[in-house]
Amino acid sequence: MTDHILVERQGTVQIIRMNRPDKKNALTRAMYAKMSAALAEGDADPAVRVHVFLGVPGAFCAGNDLADFLVVATGGEGGTEVWDFLMALAKVEKPMLSGVDGIAVGIGTTLNLHCDLTFATPRTLFRTPFVDLGLVPEAGSSLLAPQILGRQGAFALLGLGEGFSAERAKAAGLIYEVVAEDALERSVLAAAAQIAAKPPQALKIARDLMRGSGEELVARIKVESEHFRERLKSNEARAALTAFMTRKKVS
Ligand code: COA
Repeated sequence: MTDHILVERQGTVQIIRMNRPDKKNALTRAMYAKMSAALAEGDADPAVRVHVFLGVPGAFCAGNDLADFLVVATGGEGGTEVWDFLMALAKVEKPMLSGVDGIAVGIGTTLNLHCDLTFATPRTLFRTPFVDLGLVPEAGSSLLAPQILGRQGAFALLGLGEGFSAERAKAAGLIYEVVAEDALERSVLAAAAQIAAKPPQALKIARDLMRGSGEELVARIKVESEHFRERLKSNEARAALTAFMTRKKVS
């Protein structure tokens, strides 16, 4: 299989790169599994101080692979890979940064709610069309988005499914900084190196204090996941997923 997730180290920074450009970095079960393993390995390794998520030019991530969703929607098995990844995000012990360029849909948006710093380019559009797909918010976003964006901002993102440009996302507190495309990776890696140079124990305590125990987050992800699994089997979701997978492209 082509390597759809590339994991590399630059000094004490671990880079997890989504690398499935032909599908705009839509995430398969194998991709989730590899990202979970990278987070666990990086957390366990004292030589790693920071995790960084990156995509490819123009596509950070188009969300869960909708073909995989359709498998579950039509009675197939979903596996535990998504759940494992969401738990990894909620419980990761080292700072996580992300550099987002272009498409950021579904988990491509909600992943960033778990990051300590997110940089995005001007052409980035954050979007979570869960409700339009007959689904519900995931990855703890129903808890984290209202905390970050307020109730109305969260509803605009998660309920209305409005797109948030990078500028709007910055103004709303969803991301840290907007940087030009050619400066994105440099900026994220510079911030990562800056964080990696901090006294790790003090940094860990500071981060833990800011994030809280995580118990509420884990409990929320569990409730969301129960709804999500139910919703995937609904007529609403089946119809929306089938419509996407069988759409005719206008060229
Ligand atoms: N799952 C599976 N395949 C996906 C995908 C997804 N989430 N997102 C994109 N793809 C595939 C497309 O089917 C297409 O495949 P093909 O070339 O074999 O036909 C390829 O990636 C390129 O996508 P395309 O739609 O042509 O690119 P675009 O730039 O016009 O649009 C998106 C990009 C992301 C806006 C659009 O593909 C889209 O809306 N995807 C669905 C996003 C989504 O709903 N994610 C789930 C959120 S819960």
